[in-house]
Amino acid sequence: MSVLCPPTTYLPPIAKIASFSVTQLLDALTYLQSLYHPEVRGSRRKRVQAPVYNREQNLRLCYEDDNELQVIRSDAFERSYSIRWLTALIAQLEVWQDLSHSGEVSLDDLGKPEPTFVHTEMIVQQAVSLLAICAGVAAAGMITRNFIFGSIDGQRRVEAQLTDIPLDNDDYGSVGAQTWGGACVLAEMIVEDPERFGLDFSSDDPESRRLNVLELGAGTGLVSLVVTKLLDTLPSFNHREVSVVATDFHPSVLANLRSNVNAIVPSTDNQITSTHSITTHFLDWSSFSTTPRPNYLSYPFDVVFGADIIYEAQHAVWIRDCLKGLMRRPSDSIVSPAVFHLVIPLRPTHTFESSTVESVFLKACDVDPNGDADLIILSKESIMCDAHGDYTRGQGLGEDVEYAYYKIGWSNTRL
Ligand SMILES: C[S@@+](CC[C@H](N)C(=O)[O-])C[C@H]1O[C@@H](n2cnc3c(N)ncnc32)[C@H](O)[C@@H]1O
Repeated sequence: MSVLCPPTTYLPPIAKIASFSVTQLLDALTYLQSLYHPEVRGSRRKRVQAPVYNREQNLRLCYEDDNELQVIRSDAFERSYSIRWLTALIAQLEVWQDLSHSGEVSLDDLGKPEPTFVHTEMIVQQAVSLLAICAGVAAAGMITRNFIFGSIDGQRRVEAQLTDIPLDNDDYGSVGAQTWGGACVLAEMIVEDPERFGLDFSSDDPESRRLNVLELGAGTGLVSLVVTKLLDTLPSFNHREVSVVATDFHPSVLANLRSNVNAIVPSTDNQITSTHSITTHFLDWSSFSTTPRPNYLSYPFDVVFGADIIYEAQHAVWIRDCLKGLMRRPSDSIVSPAVFHLVIPLRPTHTFESSTVESVFLKACDVDPNGDADLIILSKESIMCDAHGDYTRGQGLGEDVEYAYYKIGWSNTRL
C-alpha cells in the first residue's frame, strides 16, 4: 500500500463498496488514516541511516515524500471524495451490522466471514473519527493511530493500533489522553534493540523466572502494548512468564488505556498468550508512599518504563519514591539488574522541571559506595527529533525536539 496515491485512485469505488471484503475496506480505511491523521509531534528520530519502518503507518514512506503527501492532503477535491467515501462505508457497515444483528442473515451469508467482521463496531468508530477529521470538526478529537516499529535488521516488526481521546480542556491532568512523542521514541528504540532494555535474554540464561514489567504514566499505552507484543515475538520469552503492568492515575486516561489494551488483548483474562499478560491499573505517584500497596504492585519489577512523565516540579521525587518501593533490589537479581528507562522531552518551557531528574537521581560518583543502595543515573543520552506533526502541543513550528533518555538503577548495579 502506498499512501502517495490520491483517494480517488486508491479507494474502492463508492458504488461498489458492498462488493468489497471487510479486509479490503479496512485496508482502505488505514490508507485514509495514513493520509489525514496528524503525526505525533517530535516522534521522528534523526538518524544516520534510513529507518526500516517508520513509527506510524502514515509515515511508511521516505521523508522526501512529505511534500507529495502534503499536496494530496491539502487537495479539497480529494478530501471531499474521502468524506463521501467514508459516509458510504459507514452506511454499508451499518447495513451489515443490522442484518447480522437481526439474525435473519448470518455473516457467512453476507459473504463477509473474515474474523475482522466482528470488529465492525470498531471500524465504524474509526471511520466516524476520520470523517470528523476530514470535515475539519475534530481538531483535538478522537484519533486511532496505527504504529509500526521494526528492528534495525528488518527481521522483527511490531504493530500497535491505539486511540487518542480528546483532551479535557478544563483539566490539565488529562494530557495522557493523547500519545506523546516520548512514547513513540521509546517504543521505537525498544523494538530496534530489545536487549538494550533488558528484554532479550539468551535461551540459556539462568534467570528463567517471571519477568515483571511496569510502565508509569502510561497514557494511551503505546510503550506497554509494544513491549507486550514484542515479547510475544522473541523466542527467548516463549516459555517464560511475562507480566506487563501499565499504570496511570487520571480516570479518563485510565479508561482509554484500558480500552486500548482490551482492543488488542481480550479483557476476560488479559492473557496475550498462556504465559504473557498485560494489565492496566491505577497508580498515583503522589500517594504511593502513603497508601497501602495493592496486590497488582506487590511483586518487584525488573524493567520499568516512563515516557514524558516529568513535567511538574514534584514528579521526579514522587517517581523516585515509587521506584524505591517497586524496583527489584540488586540482591534479588544478579544477572539482570532492574532498570528504569526514562525518556523526557527537554521542553524550553520546562527546563527546571526537566532538570529535577538530575538533582533527584544522583550520579554514581556522588554516592557513598559503602552506604545503602540508592537509585542513580546509570547513563544519559540525547535524542534529537524532527518537529513534524501536531503543532498544537507546546513548541513552535519547525523547532526540533530534544529528548533525554536516562537509564536509572540501583547504585550497586553492574551493567
Ligand atoms: C505527557 S503524558 C505522557 C503519556 C505517555 N507516557 C506518552 O508518552 O504518550 C504524562 C502521563 O503521566 C500521567 N501522570 C501525571 N501525573 C501522575 C501521577 N501523579 N501519577 C500517575 N500518573 C501521572 C498522566 O496521566 C499522563 O498519562
